[in-house]
Amino acid sequence: MRLNGKISLITGAGSGIGRATAECFAREGATVVAVDVNGDAVQATQTAITTTGGNCLGLVVDVSVEEQVKRAIATTVERFGRLDILHNNAGISVLKPIIETTEADLDKLLGVNFKGVFFGCKHGIVQMLTQGGGIIINTASELGIVGQPLYSAYCATKGGVLALTRALATEWSAQNIRVNAICPGPIDTPMIHAEFNVGPDSVAEEKAVVATIPVGRLGKPEDIARVALFLATSDAEFIHGAAIVADGGKTII
Ligand SMILES: NC(=O)c1ccc[n+]([C@@H]2O[C@H](COP(=O)([O-])OP(=O)(O)OC[C@H]3O[C@@H](n4cnc5c(N)ncnc54)[C@H](O)[C@@H]3O)[C@@H](O)[C@H]2O)c1
Repeated sequence: MRLNGKISLITGAGSGIGRATAECFAREGATVVAVDVNGDAVQATQTAITTTGGNCLGLVVDVSVEEQVKRAIATTVERFGRLDILHNNAGISVLKPIIETTEADLDKLLGVNFKGVFFGCKHGIVQMLTQGGGIIINTASELGIVGQPLYSAYCATKGGVLALTRALATEWSAQNIRVNAICPGPIDTPMIHAEFNVGPDSVAEEKAVVATIPVGRLGKPEDIARVALFLATSDAEFIHGAAIVADGGKTII
């Protein structure tokens, strides 16, 4: 059990990568505070973990609202005494050419994908400074590194997460706070299936995406959960401000 006794908070833990990471961290002995804006989803994650013997507290939180993020971290500390590992993972996507992207689309994407991560880092670091350190893992995307049509606003938010991660690593590494990012490629979650459904033929769309991945398959949420687990352990203690790409080789071709 590689996270025995650790206290973790994971956002977007009701689905996909966040849920897989919550289950993985719990299996490895961590207490998991599972945060999501979707109450039913977060309840399902809590039930799945607790019925298999893990420790999990589900909280309904909109990460785009600073006060709610601050309160979630405060609740974690009130209940469990500290916050060792913070995984800022919640995210959304909007697929539109820039000429059709509205200010409301942009505000929504920035609110969840960028401000949500920023607020988590801010209040996570405030707590971690009081306890002598901690680990922050931000979910960015390969699309924070490479471009893709229809994803301009999404790409910009994920590039922002990578810039924030690097800046925070320079700002806080000396205080024993380790901040890194994961850049998943296409992962088999509800988010990507919603994206496949944007065009007229979701099966053809999925095939076309898989054809861009050298390993010939979508990633599984567990593929990313294992990267988060690595970053959450002392095996990664010399890794600061990194963008760890996990994409089946997609961005190297
Ligand atoms: N699936 C992919 O192909 C892929 C690729 C690269 C990066 N990512 C990133 O991985 C992260 C997780 O995505 P996923 O694929 O697991 O998606 P998902 O849709 O399966 O899960 C995302 C979760 O975030 C929650 N969420 C959305 N808005 C929220 C808010 N305001 N506050 C709190 N929770 C909120 C949703 O309710 C959902 O449970 C996202 O940041 C996404 O951008 C996904």
